[in-house]
Amino acid sequence: MILLPSVLAADFGHLADEVARAERGGAGAIHADVMDGHFVPNLTLGPPVVKALRRSTALPIDVHLMVEEPDRFLDAFIDAGASWISVHVETIPHLQRTIGHLRSRGVRPGVVLNPATPLATLDEILPEIDYVLLMSVNPGFGGQAFLPASIGKVRRLHRLVQERGLRVLIEVDGGVDVSNARALVEAGAELLVAGSAVFGQGDAEAAARRLIESCR
Ligand code: DX5
Ligand code: ZN
Repeated sequence: MILLPSVLAADFGHLADEVARAERGGAGAIHADVMDGHFVPNLTLGPPVVKALRRSTALPIDVHLMVEEPDRFLDAFIDAGASWISVHVETIPHLQRTIGHLRSRGVRPGVVLNPATPLATLDEILPEIDYVLLMSVNPGFGGQAFLPASIGKVRRLHRLVQERGLRVLIEVDGGVDVSNARALVEAGAELLVAGSAVFGQGDAEAAARRLIESCR
């Protein structure tokens, strides 16, 4: 399992220190939540913050784009240092073109599904992507309650990926904590995003370590 702390819950005044703590705790990548106030009802960060993250860690940076017309912003985030970029299937008219562009620029492409978006939307694109991000809350804010139905959705996707003989990683994002992380990994998730369960706990290093331990 790879833990991806979401910096949305971190202290932005001490971002580099927060990332360093999470890294010491065993984080395998850093998750950056980009919100535009249109696709989701919140505003967060843009390429300059990703650039600052890039300077502060050698870990891969996973950029989760919760924006309308994400194609307009891909290059800016790639130039800023994004390693993996995921786009919501609900926002993209020509998904294959978008994924092709990400790959041509050396970025690992992922596709995100909201809780109410069916797995069937992945049928055609699945062989072309590196990971699927299943939202386990309705995106827009950190600290929301985990939707338990997500575990079954992870299991179904895991089965689908195996049946088709593909190597597509499953990432889960929203309300992930010590009470559900293990069940998610058992269902087939390999990438777990956690905001408040890492940065909202005082000691991010210890919290990250606890979360990883809970999956063993
Ligand atoms: C939600 C974001 C998440 C969020 C997770 O819209 O995509 O990445 O930061 O935060 P927690 O772990 O607190 O739910
Ligand atoms: Zn996210």
